[in-house]
Amino acid sequence: MNEKRVTFASKIGVVAAAAGSAVGLGNIWRFPSQTADGGGAIFILVYIGCILFFGIPLMVSEFLVGRSSRANTAGAFHKLAPGTPWKWVGRLGVLTGFVIMGFYMVVCGWTLDYLIQAVAGQLHTETDFAGRFTALQNNPLRQIVWMIAFTLLTAFFIISGVKKGIEQSAKILMPMLFLLLLILAIRAITLEGASGGLAFLFKPTMEHVKPTVFLDAMGQAFFSLSIGMGCMITYGSYFNNHTNLTKTAIQVSVLDTLVAILAGIIIFPSAFALTANSATIVDELVAGGPGLLFITLPGLFNQMPASMVWAAMFFCLLALAALTSTISLMEVVTLYIHEEYLLSRRKSTLLVTAGVIVLGIISSFSSSFFNFLDITSAKFMLPAGGFFICLFVGWYLDKKLVHDLSMD
Ligand code: TRP
Repeated sequence: MNEKRVTFASKIGVVAAAAGSAVGLGNIWRFPSQTADGGGAIFILVYIGCILFFGIPLMVSEFLVGRSSRANTAGAFHKLAPGTPWKWVGRLGVLTGFVIMGFYMVVCGWTLDYLIQAVAGQLHTETDFAGRFTALQNNPLRQIVWMIAFTLLTAFFIISGVKKGIEQSAKILMPMLFLLLLILAIRAITLEGASGGLAFLFKPTMEHVKPTVFLDAMGQAFFSLSIGMGCMITYGSYFNNHTNLTKTAIQVSVLDTLVAILAGIIIFPSAFALTANSATIVDELVAGGPGLLFITLPGLFNQMPASMVWAAMFFCLLALAALTSTISLMEVVTLYIHEEYLLSRRKSTLLVTAGVIVLGIISSFSSSFFNFLDITSAKFMLPAGGFFICLFVGWYLDKKLVHDLSMD
């Protein structure tokens, strides 16, 4: 605990690492399927409201707790509020991270599986992408192999150290992913029949809106920004004293939201343009559920020259974006065990890895367990954690710390 903690080296490294955590499958896989489920434009409006009014302030709060304590998520509360029950907020966060990894790693596995399919040239001869995705869903073993591979890959980066692992990878890969998404978005909106998808995204109608839209959008906002479990506390603990927390939070949130909206601009126009029966398209989108990305996008690639190259590039960058997110999740849980139970970093990582693999195996066999972890973490644990973190910063924490925030 007394060893000097490392800090991120440069300003751009700070934003890149936090954005690397935020931008992941949450933006490109979960956001579109939540938007489809939530009825389109209204969901997106509520989502953006949640980012502005809850997301950004909460991210600043997490950064603040992290930087002023320089400890892991649970230790941070312990240090700033010794002998109080606040440490349970940190513990809840660590548990949330674990629960998220229990289904997230499975989707990471799907990404690897599709990357291999793309490289092996299996996607550009296919016409039934829904059937292809169902085949993967019905094959737990295939999902488990890739899920384990991804979890081990994440563990490798965690063991190899904070700076090298997280900072370096995020700096190069994020801009590449962004550029690729931009190209795909242009292709998608220039498809014939794409306008229906754009209208679904940007023209609010009450038609498909659900009463739970607020909770759904809030859960998605928290999930996508990596907030509500203390992930940004851990990252904030690596910031140096000159980092402007508010500015960083705004930059990360804007980037994260741009990527999510871009993913929407790719997926919905493609889905509308490439579906034969547009009358049932919204129902189909909803029914697509967690498979939406994997069903719609291969169809889009096939509308492009050299489709194999685009598909391979996309799934490769998606896997890497997911990796910077899983690294942040695993870092939270590992650092907690490492600093609180004084196990070595390597041993802590192995312990976490084993636990995640067990949850991942159950999620691969049972889609209801998968959904249970997804819903419990995003819609209940993250908002609850976020609520307590806000209370902590706004009510308990030394006012001077919070006040100094505006001076940096
Ligand atoms: N935000 C990431 C994504 O959008 C997932 C993630 C990483 C996360 N760390 C987190 C979600 C912490 C909630 C809390 O894919």
